Amino acid sequence: MCGIVGFTGRDQAKDILVEGLRRMEYRGYDSAGVALEAAGADGAARLDVIRRVGKVSGLASELEGYAGQATCGIGHTRWATHGRPSTANAHPHTSCDGRIAVVHNGIVENFAELREELQGRGHVFKSDTDTEVLAHLVEEAYAERGELMAAVRDAVSQVVGAYGLAVVCADEPGVVAVARKDSPIVIGVGEKGSYVASDVIALIDATRDVVVLEDDQFARLSPGGVEYTDAEGRPIEPAVTHVDWDLDMAEKGGYPDFMLKEIHEQPRVVRDTLVGRMTATGELDIDELGLSLEELNDIDRVYVIACGTSYHAGLIAKNLIEGWARIPCEVEAASEFRYRDAIITPSTLVVAVSQSGETADTLAAIRDARIKGAKVFGITNVVGSPVARESDGVIYTKANKEIAVASTKSFIGQVVSLTLLALLLAQVKYRLTTKQARMLFRELGDSAAQIQEILDGCGPAVREAAAACKDARSALFVGRGMGAAIACEGALKLKEVSYLHAEAYAAGEMKHGPIALIEPGFPVIAVATKSPTYDKTVSNLMECRARGAVVVAVATEGDDEIKKIADHVIYIPRIRDCFSPITASVPLQLLAREVALMRGCDVDQPRNLAKSVTVE
Ligand code: G6P
Repeated sequence: MCGIVGFTGRDQAKDILVEGLRRMEYRGYDSAGVALEAAGADGAARLDVIRRVGKVSGLASELEGYAGQATCGIGHTRWATHGRPSTANAHPHTSCDGRIAVVHNGIVENFAELREELQGRGHVFKSDTDTEVLAHLVEEAYAERGELMAAVRDAVSQVVGAYGLAVVCADEPGVVAVARKDSPIVIGVGEKGSYVASDVIALIDATRDVVVLEDDQFARLSPGGVEYTDAEGRPIEPAVTHVDWDLDMAEKGGYPDFMLKEIHEQPRVVRDTLVGRMTATGELDIDELGLSLEELNDIDRVYVIACGTSYHAGLIAKNLIEGWARIPCEVEAASEFRYRDAIITPSTLVVAVSQSGETADTLAAIRDARIKGAKVFGITNVVGSPVARESDGVIYTKANKEIAVASTKSFIGQVVSLTLLALLLAQVKYRLTTKQARMLFRELGDSAAQIQEILDGCGPAVREAAAACKDARSALFVGRGMGAAIACEGALKLKEVSYLHAEAYAAGEMKHGPIALIEPGFPVIAVATKSPTYDKTVSNLMECRARGAVVVAVATEGDDEIKKIADHVIYIPRIRDCFSPITASVPLQLLAREVALMRGCDVDQPRNLAKSVTVE
């Protein structure tokens, strides 16, 4: 996940910037860089930009030899989203004349149009990033306005998307211009000067009194202090927040653990994964599609191959691909698929789902599938990962670095990405009209706000349900259709973080075995949202209840009937059944975490588990 830092003051900027970048390393990144304002031989200010792929320590070693005496500069750690990890794509990005440098977090949604317009006006681009348009836009505006803050305001007014932005200009020495929309920025003034960062952890050593910039607010940092303005350039006085977090809390953004922080990032993940994916005319825009529409139209069989949580995202995709595109779809654990002789032809599409993009079994499976002639499509969180490199096409899940071992936000990103792929296949196969696809896309986007509603409201119900489960020896998760797939992920999450045995079962299959396990107090956790099979699920829950099970139901708001069957109900907003995994999974993630905490477990680093499994 990208990190921004900036400083202007009375001390060496390079050391302060490097230390700030180090502090943000935990967020994950693939390259790092700084822009330092130094005096040239003629005494006039210039910008020195130093960037490197790899660790901040590498950048720090390179900077040891830096002889300039810069007291102002900006720095960045980049987690690739647009364009591969490379020096050219690393921030800061500069204007054509090299006198303006920018670091940016967020996504410029209209970057393709802006880039084309800027190129038309003679700007030369040096990277594949969306960010670089900002450097050129500021350059143009600066030529007209002659003042950096005004130029930054003009530039961002042309941008659709999210930005946390810090800009320096060789012609305004000692000034760092800052802007924010939908991407965090904090500012503080310490003894040595003024600081900006995207994460409070980068500046809490300098000061604990910070301004958390709000959307459409701007700041002009100079060695003596900070001036704040609104979008029209009028002065404002934002509130100062005192931060008393220790370093550990600061890393977690004030949350007690990474798992909870990442669960709370999920509305953003949905939005970011969807940004720029549908054109005004209703076509899906998958930037690294890699396959022609004819090739996609020829697909007559899909295998989704994955491990762990990613496999469960595949179970959800099967329902969508078969339901919308009417293409037979199988979901298989990569460790099984790679050793069996699956039927593969040139019209087979193998979809590899992998957060890390480097799981050994998944990689081996796609290598084998390619040799057998399949087309391969990757769904991954890591730009330039082996799965991305070895697939014909890729959708990136835009979850950013996930730190907790048990996957949450990556899962949601995978489900959203797979939904896009299913929509695309359905459109290519003429199974969905543009109008239908557009409507579904819009509703998919609405799920971001619904997740937020769940996060804001379901805490008490989750805690109550967790208390009812925490002392059990085992639990069953049940559901039908999409609910059955969600139940699989719910059970895995509980096992992973609380070490409580859990098993997922299709609700209708309970009577063929698992119901024998039920005795008084046995927890049955049901995905019982409104769906075409809702009534059937309810009947199955009654059978469990009759045998003494403690029933916890994830149900649709307004469903009062369910209260008669379930001991504990966690309500979620009404959503079309096909999108229910995006919202219904969230209370189950929270439930797993809550049970784990009640049982004294480390939710971020469960025993025996690894975040990325690069061995068989
Ligand atoms: C490990 C992780 C899981 C993950 C699985 C697949 O088991 O602990 O959270 O779902 O690997 O990883 P991938 O990176 O391929 O999605």
